[in-house]
Amino acid sequence: MNNIKKPLQNTSRDYVQVSKLAAKFITLEGSEGAGKSTAMKVIKEKLESWQVPFISTREPGGEHNAEHIRELLLHSQHLAAKTELLLMFAARNEHLEKVIRPTLADGTWVVSDRFVDASYAYQGFGRGIDWSSIEYLEKFVVGTTKPDLTLLLDVDPAEGLNRAANRSNKDRIEREALSFFENIRKGYHQRVKSEPERIKVVNANDSIEAVAEAINSELQLFKNKIS
Ligand code: TMP
Repeated sequence: MNNIKKPLQNTSRDYVQVSKLAAKFITLEGSEGAGKSTAMKVIKEKLESWQVPFISTREPGGEHNAEHIRELLLHSQHLAAKTELLLMFAARNEHLEKVIRPTLADGTWVVSDRFVDASYAYQGFGRGIDWSSIEYLEKFVVGTTKPDLTLLLDVDPAEGLNRAANRSNKDRIEREALSFFENIRKGYHQRVKSEPERIKVVNANDSIEAVAEAINSELQLFKNKIS
């Protein structure tokens, strides 16, 4: 995690155009078995081709204390829903204060595997916590450090669970039932409805090649918009 990719010396037009832009914050979201690891590779390759400096990170985690909180979140025997929500935001606060904000301020892009939309989907729709509590925590913790672009890998929950079925050592959240992941999908769709400009849906039921193509094309559209 958090490996900063510094751009190589390059005088091409593409490099000059992208590098003079303010650093951007990109997040990746999706339910179980959506293919986030592959998608992350595609995003990193695109940013490398643009020669922008970036780090890749994740939530919950991405910072020393936040990674400890991640352990508690994913490997405790049981957590009350509100505790789960508060720990997600506690980890996020460490991540924001010590990694995300300083990195962006330094002119380095940040790509995070999950961010605040996951709290709305998992704790809001999955655990049934009211939206307004999450909105309050978002204002309190995230403030104005919102992602510039979010790619949502949208997979049919049954297909996603099928893909993830062979994974050994599933964590506490991964062991949830199909209905939980169906609710999560609804939660993500609710987020897309409220912020369609930021959150772009990628059909993750497609082949790996088609998903990679869709991600690349969303990134290209984003770059055209900010250039
Ligand atoms: P990962 O499997 O993508 O690494 O994420 C860890 C788990 O944490 C995943 O099941 C989704 C969950 N999660 C939440 O429930 N709420 C959140 O806010 C975040 C960031 C993750």
